[in-house]
Amino acid sequence: MDFEAKLSDKAKTIKPSGIRRFFDLANQIEGVISLGVGEPDFTTPWKIRESAIYSIEKGRTFYTANRGLIELREEICKYYDQRWHVKYDPKTECTVTVGGSEGIDIAVRALLNPGEEMIILDPGYVAYEPAVLLSGGVPVRIHLEEKDQFKLTPEKLKAAITPNTKLMLINYPGNPTGGFMTREDYAKIVPIIKESGIIVISDEIYAELSYEQEFCALASFPEIRDQVITISGFSKAFAMTGWRLGYVLANPVLSKAMTKIHQYIIMSAPTGAQYGAIDGLRYCADEVEEMRNAYLSRRNYLVRELNDMGLKTFKPQGAFYVFPSIQSTGLTSEEFCEALLKDQKVACVPGSAFGEGGEGFIRISYAYSLEELKIAMSKMRLFLEHLKK
Ligand SMILES: Cc1ncc(COP(=O)(O)O)c(C=O)c1O
Repeated sequence: MDFEAKLSDKAKTIKPSGIRRFFDLANQIEGVISLGVGEPDFTTPWKIRESAIYSIEKGRTFYTANRGLIELREEICKYYDQRWHVKYDPKTECTVTVGGSEGIDIAVRALLNPGEEMIILDPGYVAYEPAVLLSGGVPVRIHLEEKDQFKLTPEKLKAAITPNTKLMLINYPGNPTGGFMTREDYAKIVPIIKESGIIVISDEIYAELSYEQEFCALASFPEIRDQVITISGFSKAFAMTGWRLGYVLANPVLSKAMTKIHQYIIMSAPTGAQYGAIDGLRYCADEVEEMRNAYLSRRNYLVRELNDMGLKTFKPQGAFYVFPSIQSTGLTSEEFCEALLKDQKVACVPGSAFGEGGEGFIRISYAYSLEELKIAMSKMRLFLEHLKK
């Protein structure tokens, strides 16, 4: 039977992630040093693991409320208030999800009708465009530029909004660029958001990984608080990728609609993970800070090294990626990454995997130990010397 022909049009048109495609290639080569994956190299803090183990020992192995355990929702809302200065009601404005990934999915599904436009940032995280397409929406890309430090400028936002714009998804600190929006930067676009009436999904999953400047939550601007859907999760800051836990915060009407979808596709997020996360929020601020400090020293090392070897590298203000320009080599980002992989067995992600705006750059994740990064950088140097010959 021709099973390909049986697939839905949407399943056929969604492209596989450019990151995965490249890593399938890397996996065929032995001894590769990979700087590709955006996954903390730290193990989840012990307190979180212990609490989850204890919950299983106690036989807490059932579904929770659809929105998640009330104790966890209370901790999440307390955390968002104390840490990022936005108040949410745990009963009506918070839903615990299967990672930020599910949060993005249910937010888009709850709002976007076929044919409506949704603005996404380019380069941007690989899951955003498929989310738009799966809802039958029309992605409208804003091309972020290094000259603006990959910030969203008011000019660019104004130019992208049309009468058909329903939604926008932004992500600061950003994957893959490490771009950052300060309160002052946001203040320039908030009036445009307010006036246009669009809903903004703010993916704040890297909030804890903000370095020199203070993180600003978009919903902390009271005039647009109810136009913002905040997405976050435990994967990055708490090193909990495999636990699959995130959350969505939004005004009661939007929150209820998202929870309805969540209830049918997920039921409730993993119970043991929820118990672990409660204690993560209560007791693990020191571990989060330790990890942030480790990422910061790795970032400083990489930015220095890469610039020194002639790859112009913007200093990211957050997340755990650097995004060096490889334009000086004359290669496309795919050609660069393939040649680097073949010549030195180092795997990075071509910038083009994150949209056309990523062409001319590569993404290097520093969720790897300093020792590994040092080996990889010495190999990168050799590669660049080979290129010159
Ligand atoms: C920007 C961004 N948002 C969301 C996610 C999804 O994370 P998770 O589903 O593990 O919470 C990722 C993961 O890499 C990401 O980089």
